[in-house]
Amino acid sequence: MFRWRGGIPASELKKFQIHQFPGWPCAPEDHRPMKVIGINGSPRPAGNTSKMLSTVFETLQAEGIETELIQVGGTDIKGCRSCYACVKTKNSECSTRNDGFNEIFAKMLAADGMILASPTYFADITPELKALIDRSGFVSRVNGGLFRHKAGAAVISLRRGGAIHAYDSINHLFGISQMFTVGSTYWNLGFGGREGDEVMNDAEALDNMRDLGKSMAFLLKKLNAS
Ligand SMILES: Cc1cc2nc3c(=O)[nH]c(=O)nc-3n(C[C@H](O)[C@H](O)[C@H](O)COP(=O)(O)O)c2cc1C
Repeated sequence: MFRWRGGIPASELKKFQIHQFPGWPCAPEDHRPMKVIGINGSPRPAGNTSKMLSTVFETLQAEGIETELIQVGGTDIKGCRSCYACVKTKNSECSTRNDGFNEIFAKMLAADGMILASPTYFADITPELKALIDRSGFVSRVNGGLFRHKAGAAVISLRRGGAIHAYDSINHLFGISQMFTVGSTYWNLGFGGREGDEVMNDAEALDNMRDLGKSMAFLLKKLNAS
């Protein structure tokens, strides 16, 4: 049974004897559960943004989908150096090494869906998440569209305003990458604050996170149906 996991169409893979490559995500013997990664752009690993991600994860797990939380906020991830080495090598890696990017990128490629989450910083996402978006989007594109047909969702926490602009910043990656974007009954936003747990009082935001988990599970099951 072929299992579509994004990146390269299963119809293309059928041209090859892919059973010779057991490590490939679409190998016929692949019965791994679907997986969604959540990338936290906040430098606070246990803050509001992380709590929103955990709430989506609870629903995804109840739907039988594996989850993994990846922390990018507060790390030393670098921005794109515009060296264009990835255009020449086309090896699905970034030439800037030892800052955690390639390890996170490999997890993005292996995942069926990704949730990119950030607090609002001056009406935008954090610089760490922006660095990841620029580099992953570029390396994905120059290698033939590695994010194509994966599911993506943006999640934003804020204290007062500017969240929609931050939300848009993430969705631009999904749009240019031919990904499927998942929303909820409202946009995927939650009111956090300085303490780091205020979002737990935003019942509507938490409901939206559960709804987002259900919609993402629904989409992934449709995409993976044989
Ligand atoms: C540098 C900085 C800039 C911020 N800018 C905004 C902003 O433009 N709009 C807003 O509503 N909140 C802003 N905030 C507040 C955070 O977005 C908010 O407290 C968020 O819930 C924090 O998420 P966290 O607990 O996951 O870090 C800012 C906070 C910091 C530290």
